[in-house]
Amino acid sequence: MTNDEQTPVELNVDVAHPARMYDYYLGGKDNYEADRAAAEASLEAAPEIRAIARENRAFLHRAVRHLVHSGVRQFLDLGAGLPTQRNVHEAAQEIAPDTRVVYVDNDPIVLVHARALLSGRGLGRTAVVQADVRDTPAILADEQVRSLIDFDQPLAIMLVSVLQFVPDVEPQDVVTPLRDAMAQGGYLVVSHPTQDFRASQVDQVASTYTRAKAPAVPRRKAEIERIFDGFELLEPGIVQTPLWRPEQPVTPDLDLIWMYGAVGRKL
Ligand SMILES: C[S@@+](CC[C@H](N)C(=O)[O-])C[C@H]1O[C@@H](n2cnc3c(N)ncnc32)[C@H](O)[C@@H]1O
Repeated sequence: MTNDEQTPVELNVDVAHPARMYDYYLGGKDNYEADRAAAEASLEAAPEIRAIARENRAFLHRAVRHLVHSGVRQFLDLGAGLPTQRNVHEAAQEIAPDTRVVYVDNDPIVLVHARALLSGRGLGRTAVVQADVRDTPAILADEQVRSLIDFDQPLAIMLVSVLQFVPDVEPQDVVTPLRDAMAQGGYLVVSHPTQDFRASQVDQVASTYTRAKAPAVPRRKAEIERIFDGFELLEPGIVQTPLWRPEQPVTPDLDLIWMYGAVGRKL
């Protein structure tokens, strides 16, 4: 759990990592041969993955803007990934420069990026922590989290396209301790792939992640509803990501977007 510039980071480039596969889908440059090979296998099964990744980022940005406009000034972004495209702190600080953001990810490449990120405009208001989302006690006790996040003030917790990568635990086991640590009126932002559409392609993609040693599990809408236990869903509820408060006409073919997005407010 460090962003010390001197600390060497072990990237393990011979094994595909979800963060770098996602970077590849989005047209980023922070990926290696193993990531590209695994990503290509997924794209072969479901070429729509690039559109799903782009729509996921667009959903994340709309959710962040909405929450900043609603008065939220602190974000805990779990499974934050690489800042391939505008990241949470940029989207939020553009509207409210005093917004504080802590990124958490278990992929060491995110730390490498943190070094560039933290030397930018967000200095002092943005931090990156290397941790596993399943280890909520460590995240909640982390020094950087504690120094930037005031748990008595409105907070948004982001679990955007990450809970599928913890197939061995129930999503509620991750969310419940975080929810309990938040003040009432805090927000939870989630996106999650589903087999409610294109089940056979989604299965094939899941198999490519398993073969890449990053097992991923899609979930049905009813399972995603349970993640929001103790939260009131903002309109329009749990919907395919392009349908969450679109700011422009919805263009993608919705039959291909097997990813739900939703935002809840703690009751
Ligand atoms: C598909 S990317 C999503 C990135 C970003 N949240 C977004 O939606 O654009 C998934 C991210 O979750 C991270 N991740 C996967 N399993 C994780 C775990 N157990 N703990 C922390 N991060 C994890 C990956 O390293 C990757 O950066």
